[in-house]
Amino acid sequence: MKQFKIAVIAGDGIGPEVINEGIKVLKNVAELDSGFQLDFTYFPYGCEFYAENGRMMDDDGIDKLKAFDAIYLGAVGFPGVPDHISLWELLLKIRKSFDQYVNIRPVTLLKGAHLPLVDVKREDIDMLFIRENSEGEYSGAGDWLFKGQENEVVLQNGVFSRKGTERIIRYAFETAKKEGRSLTSISKANALNYSMVFWDQVFEEVSREYPEVETASYLVDAAAMLMIKDPKRFEVVVTSNLFGDILTDLGAALAGGIGLAAGANINPQRDSPSMFEPIHGSAPDIAGKGIANPLASIWSASQMLDFFGYEAHGKIVLDAIEQLLLEARVLTPDMNGTASTSEVGDRVTDIIESILL
Ligand code: NAD
Ligand code: IPM
Ligand code: MN
Repeated sequence: MKQFKIAVIAGDGIGPEVINEGIKVLKNVAELDSGFQLDFTYFPYGCEFYAENGRMMDDDGIDKLKAFDAIYLGAVGFPGVPDHISLWELLLKIRKSFDQYVNIRPVTLLKGAHLPLVDVKREDIDMLFIRENSEGEYSGAGDWLFKGQENEVVLQNGVFSRKGTERIIRYAFETAKKEGRSLTSISKANALNYSMVFWDQVFEEVSREYPEVETASYLVDAAAMLMIKDPKRFEVVVTSNLFGDILTDLGAALAGGIGLAAGANINPQRDSPSMFEPIHGSAPDIAGKGIANPLASIWSASQMLDFFGYEAHGKIVLDAIEQLLLEARVLTPDMNGTASTSEVGDRVTDIIESILL
């Protein structure tokens, strides 16, 4: 029987709360289908681990994780550990070490999810964001000169390599071609006179290889406005690391809320594990209350099943989320419900059973 090894890093705050529900769902799907087996190994990495050990993961943590088929991550970062340390030593370190250069974030309003805008139609909100996930504004390169002095200067360098820019844009064209949808590039060449001029140039070059894909290109400020005013313009979208980060939280607000927004960090070469996670953070304001919405992490579990080649099962999980939203009975407070995190997970598994049995 096919077996997949999953490394679980539940992480901080609501991370463990939502990940538990995703695992409940994954175990349920695997039990109901005798075709494959999922094997979970838990890693206690995160801010508590840091408090005890002075580091966010084991020194050989990356080597340990390398052997897995996928990583299932909750959230990283909590008051008490500076964010730039916790994130750079765990989440961003994994994305970079495993060259997970594609970050796939659906911005799709599922049936039953709350439509936030009055003059927009439900079916108009259906985008697939492909965010560059390995370099750009998140290169980590920079300098802090003359610290504390009057002439103090801080540099944060964006790094856009030919290889890194071309491969993400090509991946996006391939996706748009496969799905028969248009591709929009979002950049900012009017102000970022090196990086984004280069980005636009590469987009233009690669587009010549895909004459069948309809393209559009927007400046990021206008794109933010148009995502709200006229979301149907956007189908497949490719953008840089930072713009993709910001616009997918905006997208989350369009597509049912941050508690529903999922993301897959993909290494297309498959020579290292890919990682699946909700796009939200550790939500310290609601952590420990048992009211976090687990649907984003459940959706990312569905992305993991797709990635393993079990698209039919991934779809069943997504259908179950949709059915739960349509029932509008078992929802967490962020969706105006009164249910707990685990009640939502239980209801999703019940629906899956009713679909699969
Ligand atoms: P956040 O996403 O944690 O929270 C923003 C708001 O959304 C909060 O009001 C929170 O209660 C709400 N929210 C988020 N997820 C929710 C859910 N599943 N259900 C219901 N409500 C939810 O963002 P933040 O407050 O800016 O960041 C908190 C910490 O998380 C910081 O340390 C940050 O660096 C980190 N962070 C980590 C990740 C990650 O691990 N992928 C992503 C974003 C932020
Ligand atoms: C995300 C998060 C991360 C990012 C942070 C926590 C470093 O906001 O996954 O969207 O900016 O990529
Ligand atoms: Mn983010």
